[in-house]
Amino acid sequence: MRYDIITLLPELLQGPLHHSIMQRAIDKGLVQVNIHNLREFGLGKNKQVDDYQYGGGAGMVMMCEPLFNCISELKSQRSYDQIIYMTPDGEQLTQSLSNRLSMGDNLLIICGHYKGIDERIRENIVDLEISIGSYVLSGGELPAAVLVDSITRLIPGVLSDETSALFDSFQDDLLAPPVYTRPADFNGWTVPEVLLSGHEQMIEDWRNEQSYERTKKRRPDLLK
Ligand code: ADE
Repeated sequence: MRYDIITLLPELLQGPLHHSIMQRAIDKGLVQVNIHNLREFGLGKNKQVDDYQYGGGAGMVMMCEPLFNCISELKSQRSYDQIIYMTPDGEQLTQSLSNRLSMGDNLLIICGHYKGIDERIRENIVDLEISIGSYVLSGGELPAAVLVDSITRLIPGVLSDETSALFDSFQDDLLAPPVYTRPADFNGWTVPEVLLSGHEQMIEDWRNEQSYERTKKRRPDLLK
């Protein structure tokens, strides 16, 4: 998978995308992350990228032309499965959307700032608009990092134990079961007996049941 990310704040993406599982996926050559600084496509000697909004009102809007030029240059080099804009009024990110996007080869992700991007880019160029939740962040960079992380862990070979993503919460619309590690007794708080039994079938049944009970209690909406 190759991700191209357009941003005005490249530094904000460096940290989240260059540690742990993400960095290992990059090192293994399973994913490539290319960050493009929109400022380089800014207009005039000030490299302008935003302007006042028509009709008045507080907040700047990211202009069409720098975005159009940056996206056109990237599109001239490869075709994208999806051109995605991160925005609080987009489709809610879910595990099934991440699963679907993980099947692709090339994703282009646009991070907005200020009041957002000119609507004409959204209407004419963007294929998919994604929100990571019903709250507003200062820009699209952290949402883009969330999206990239959630997709990357689903790419075959990224997780050392390939099955482990299968047991993540939300796969199959169920939350993950509780997990424990040594010691079996900490301060008198004990680990459920079945996990120490070595009986694989019983352990699997217990985990399935815990997943179901946890989902019923915490996220009944997932069971509908
Ligand atoms: N940009 C600002 N807030 C956002 C959100 N909640 N999801 C996606 N992009 C955003």
